[in-house]
Amino acid sequence: MSNLAFYITRFLSGGLLAVLLCAGQVSHAHGPTPHGSGANAQGTPAPAPAQQDEAPDPLANRFGGKFSLIDHSGQRVTNETYRGRYMLIYFGFTNCVDLCPVDLAVMVQALQLTAKATAEKIQPLFITVDPDVDTPAILAKYVANLHPNLIGLTGTVAEVEATARAYRVQRHKILHTSSNGHPYIIDHGTLMFLMGPDGKFVTLFPHNSTPEKIAENLNRYVK
Ligand code: NI
Repeated sequence: MSNLAFYITRFLSGGLLAVLLCAGQVSHAHGPTPHGSGANAQGTPAPAPAQQDEAPDPLANRFGGKFSLIDHSGQRVTNETYRGRYMLIYFGFTNCVDLCPVDLAVMVQALQLTAKATAEKIQPLFITVDPDVDTPAILAKYVANLHPNLIGLTGTVAEVEATARAYRVQRHKILHTSSNGHPYIIDHGTLMFLMGPDGKFVTLFPHNSTPEKIAENLNRYVK
Protein backbone atom coordinates (compact mmCIF):
# COMPACT_ATOMS: atom_id res chain seq x y z
CA MET A 1 0.00 0.00 0.00
CA SER A 2 1.37 3.40 -0.91
CA ASN A 3 1.81 6.04 1.77
CA LEU A 4 -1.00 8.05 0.24
CA ALA A 5 -3.36 5.10 0.27
CA PHE A 6 -2.37 4.42 3.87
CA TYR A 7 -3.23 7.91 4.99
CA ILE A 8 -6.46 7.96 3.02
CA THR A 9 -7.42 4.69 4.70
CA ARG A 10 -6.54 6.11 8.10
CA PHE A 11 -8.58 9.22 7.38
CA LEU A 12 -11.61 7.22 6.31
CA SER A 13 -11.36 4.94 9.34
CA GLY A 14 -11.17 7.96 11.60
CA GLY A 15 -14.17 9.47 9.88
CA LEU A 16 -16.19 6.34 10.34
CA LEU A 17 -15.22 6.16 13.99
CA ALA A 18 -16.31 9.78 14.48
CA VAL A 19 -19.65 9.09 12.81
CA LEU A 20 -20.20 6.00 14.92
CA LEU A 21 -19.22 7.68 18.16
CA CYS A 22 -21.48 10.61 17.40
CA ALA A 23 -24.32 8.46 16.22
CA GLY A 24 -24.03 6.25 19.28
CA GLN A 25 -24.89 9.20 21.45
CA VAL A 26 -28.17 9.87 19.68
CA SER A 27 -31.00 8.92 21.92
CA HIS A 28 -34.28 10.37 22.82
CA ALA A 29 -36.62 11.10 25.65
CA HIS A 30 -37.61 14.73 25.61
CA GLY A 31 -38.84 15.50 22.14
CA PRO A 32 -36.95 16.61 19.08
CA THR A 33 -34.67 19.17 20.69
CA PRO A 34 -31.95 17.03 22.25
CA HIS A 35 -31.53 14.68 19.32
CA GLY A 36 -29.79 15.47 16.18
CA SER A 37 -27.09 17.58 17.76
CA GLY A 38 -24.59 14.77 17.58
CA ALA A 39 -26.34 12.97 14.78
CA ASN A 40 -25.39 12.80 11.21
CA ALA A 41 -27.70 15.58 10.10
CA GLN A 42 -27.89 14.40 6.50
CA GLY A 43 -29.07 11.04 7.65
CA THR A 44 -26.30 9.45 5.66
CA PRO A 45 -25.65 5.90 6.79
CA ALA A 46 -22.18 5.01 7.93
CA PRO A 47 -20.09 3.31 5.29
CA ALA A 48 -20.24 -0.44 5.24
CA PRO A 49 -17.28 -2.35 6.60
CA ALA A 50 -14.39 -3.14 4.34
CA GLN A 51 -14.79 -5.73 1.63
CA GLN A 52 -13.27 -9.13 2.19
CA ASP A 53 -10.23 -8.37 0.09
CA GLU A 54 -9.36 -5.42 2.31
CA ALA A 55 -8.12 -5.35 5.87
CA PRO A 56 -10.90 -6.31 8.29
CA ASP A 57 -12.65 -3.31 9.80
CA PRO A 58 -12.39 -3.60 13.60
CA LEU A 59 -15.48 -1.41 13.98
CA ALA A 60 -17.55 -4.11 12.31
CA ASN A 61 -17.28 -6.19 15.47
CA ARG A 62 -18.45 -3.45 17.79
CA PHE A 63 -22.16 -3.95 17.26
CA GLY A 64 -24.10 -7.15 17.70
CA GLY A 65 -23.53 -10.55 19.14
CA LYS A 66 -25.44 -13.26 20.89
CA PHE A 67 -28.90 -12.67 22.28
CA SER A 68 -31.63 -14.82 23.73
CA LEU A 69 -35.10 -13.27 23.82
CA ILE A 70 -38.80 -14.08 23.47
CA ASP A 71 -40.62 -13.12 20.30
CA HIS A 72 -44.11 -11.66 20.22
CA SER A 73 -45.65 -15.10 19.76
CA GLY A 74 -44.00 -16.25 22.98
CA GLN A 75 -41.26 -18.36 21.35
CA ARG A 76 -37.69 -18.32 22.63
CA VAL A 77 -35.41 -16.97 19.90
CA THR A 78 -31.69 -16.29 19.68
CA ASN A 79 -29.37 -14.59 17.22
CA GLU A 80 -29.08 -18.04 15.57
CA THR A 81 -32.81 -18.05 14.82
CA TYR A 82 -32.31 -15.43 12.12
CA ARG A 83 -29.08 -16.82 10.71
CA GLY A 84 -29.30 -16.84 6.93
CA ARG A 85 -31.42 -13.70 6.87
CA TYR A 86 -30.44 -10.09 7.19
CA MET A 87 -31.69 -8.48 10.40
CA LEU A 88 -32.84 -4.88 10.48
CA ILE A 89 -32.92 -4.03 14.17
CA TYR A 90 -34.38 -1.14 16.10
CA PHE A 91 -34.58 -0.79 19.87
CA GLY A 92 -37.44 1.07 21.55
CA PHE A 93 -40.57 0.60 23.64
CA THR A 94 -44.27 0.58 22.95
CA ASN A 95 -45.07 3.49 25.27
CA CYS A 96 -42.60 5.74 23.51
CA VAL A 97 -44.46 8.76 22.21
CA ASP A 98 -41.39 10.44 20.85
CA LEU A 99 -39.15 9.02 18.17
CA CYS A 100 -39.91 5.29 18.19
CA PRO A 101 -43.12 5.80 16.19
CA VAL A 102 -41.25 8.04 13.76
CA ASP A 103 -38.26 5.75 13.36
CA LEU A 104 -40.42 2.65 13.00
CA ALA A 105 -42.52 4.37 10.36
CA VAL A 106 -39.30 5.19 8.53
CA MET A 107 -38.23 1.55 8.80
CA VAL A 108 -41.55 0.38 7.36
CA GLN A 109 -41.43 2.90 4.53
CA ALA A 110 -37.86 1.91 3.74
CA LEU A 111 -38.87 -1.76 3.51
CA GLN A 112 -41.73 -0.82 1.21
CA LEU A 113 -39.32 1.13 -1.01
CA THR A 114 -36.79 -1.71 -1.12
CA ALA A 115 -36.89 -4.12 -4.06
CA LYS A 116 -39.32 -6.93 -3.18
CA ALA A 117 -36.79 -9.73 -3.61
CA THR A 118 -34.37 -7.83 -1.37
CA ALA A 119 -36.92 -6.98 1.29
CA GLU A 120 -37.84 -10.66 1.53
CA LYS A 121 -34.31 -11.41 2.73
CA ILE A 122 -34.63 -8.96 5.60
CA GLN A 123 -36.10 -9.73 9.00
CA PRO A 124 -37.09 -6.49 10.72
CA LEU A 125 -36.85 -6.73 14.50
CA PHE A 126 -38.14 -4.38 17.18
CA ILE A 127 -36.38 -5.09 20.48
CA THR A 128 -38.00 -3.56 23.51
CA VAL A 129 -35.95 -1.68 26.08
CA ASP A 130 -38.93 -1.86 28.47
CA PRO A 131 -39.39 -5.59 29.16
CA ASP A 132 -41.32 -4.95 32.38
CA VAL A 133 -44.20 -3.57 30.34
CA ASP A 134 -43.67 -4.91 26.83
CA THR A 135 -44.88 -8.50 27.10
CA PRO A 136 -45.13 -10.67 23.98
CA ALA A 137 -48.86 -9.93 23.81
CA ILE A 138 -48.34 -6.17 23.95
CA LEU A 139 -45.58 -6.37 21.36
CA ALA A 140 -47.74 -8.55 19.10
CA LYS A 141 -50.43 -5.92 19.02
CA TYR A 142 -47.90 -3.12 18.52
CA VAL A 143 -45.97 -4.66 15.60
CA ALA A 144 -49.15 -5.87 13.88
CA ASN A 145 -50.07 -2.23 13.34
CA LEU A 146 -46.75 -1.49 11.67
CA HIS A 147 -45.59 -4.19 9.25
CA PRO A 148 -46.64 -7.81 8.65
CA ASN A 149 -43.05 -9.08 8.88
CA LEU A 150 -41.97 -7.04 11.88
CA ILE A 151 -41.17 -9.19 14.92
CA GLY A 152 -41.21 -7.76 18.43
CA LEU A 153 -38.70 -9.16 20.91
CA THR A 154 -38.68 -8.99 24.70
CA GLY A 155 -37.23 -11.00 27.57
CA THR A 156 -36.13 -10.65 31.14
CA VAL A 157 -34.51 -7.39 32.16
CA ALA A 158 -31.15 -9.16 32.17
CA GLU A 159 -31.69 -10.57 28.67
CA VAL A 160 -32.74 -7.22 27.26
CA GLU A 161 -29.85 -5.46 28.98
CA ALA A 162 -27.37 -7.95 27.56
CA THR A 163 -28.79 -7.46 24.07
CA ALA A 164 -28.73 -3.66 24.35
CA ARG A 165 -25.15 -3.86 25.60
CA ALA A 166 -24.12 -6.03 22.64
CA TYR A 167 -25.49 -3.39 20.28
CA ARG A 168 -24.13 -0.53 22.39
CA VAL A 169 -27.60 0.89 22.78
CA GLN A 170 -27.93 3.23 25.73
CA ARG A 171 -30.95 2.72 27.92
CA HIS A 172 -31.87 5.02 30.80
CA LYS A 173 -35.13 5.02 32.70
CA ILE A 174 -36.28 8.57 33.46
CA LEU A 175 -38.84 8.87 36.21
CA HIS A 176 -41.25 11.45 34.98
CA THR A 177 -44.58 11.04 33.33
CA SER A 178 -44.64 10.94 29.57
CA SER A 179 -47.20 12.85 27.55
CA ASN A 180 -49.38 9.73 27.18
CA GLY A 181 -49.57 9.38 30.96
CA HIS A 182 -47.05 6.55 31.21
CA PRO A 183 -45.20 6.93 34.54
CA TYR A 184 -41.73 6.93 33.03
CA ILE A 185 -39.75 7.44 29.87
CA ILE A 186 -36.88 5.33 28.67
CA ASP A 187 -34.21 7.29 26.93
CA HIS A 188 -32.63 4.97 24.38
CA GLY A 189 -30.30 4.91 21.42
CA THR A 190 -31.99 5.30 18.05
CA LEU A 191 -29.58 3.66 15.65
CA MET A 192 -31.04 1.14 13.22
CA PHE A 193 -28.72 -1.78 12.54
CA LEU A 194 -28.39 -3.94 9.46
CA MET A 195 -26.82 -7.27 10.33
CA GLY A 196 -25.76 -9.83 7.74
CA PRO A 197 -26.90 -13.44 7.26
CA ASP A 198 -23.87 -14.46 9.34
CA GLY A 199 -25.15 -12.24 12.16
CA LYS A 200 -22.34 -9.75 11.75
CA PHE A 201 -22.65 -6.00 11.45
CA VAL A 202 -23.16 -4.67 7.91
CA THR A 203 -24.07 -1.02 8.41
CA LEU A 204 -26.25 1.26 10.48
CA PHE A 205 -28.71 4.05 9.91
CA PRO A 206 -28.71 7.02 12.27
CA HIS A 207 -31.90 8.72 13.29
CA ASN A 208 -32.94 11.19 10.54
CA SER A 209 -32.03 8.73 7.81
CA THR A 210 -34.70 9.02 5.16
CA PRO A 211 -36.66 5.95 4.00
CA GLU A 212 -35.22 6.52 0.53
CA LYS A 213 -31.66 6.52 1.81
CA ILE A 214 -32.21 3.40 3.88
CA ALA A 215 -33.89 1.60 0.96
CA GLU A 216 -31.05 2.60 -1.34
CA ASN A 217 -28.54 1.06 1.07
CA LEU A 218 -30.63 -2.06 1.68
CA ASN A 219 -30.72 -2.60 -2.08
CA ARG A 220 -26.98 -2.08 -2.12
CA TYR A 221 -25.91 -4.31 0.77
CA VAL A 222 -28.48 -7.09 0.87
CA LYS A 223 -27.38 -9.77 -1.57
NI1 NI B 1 -38.37 5.58 21.57
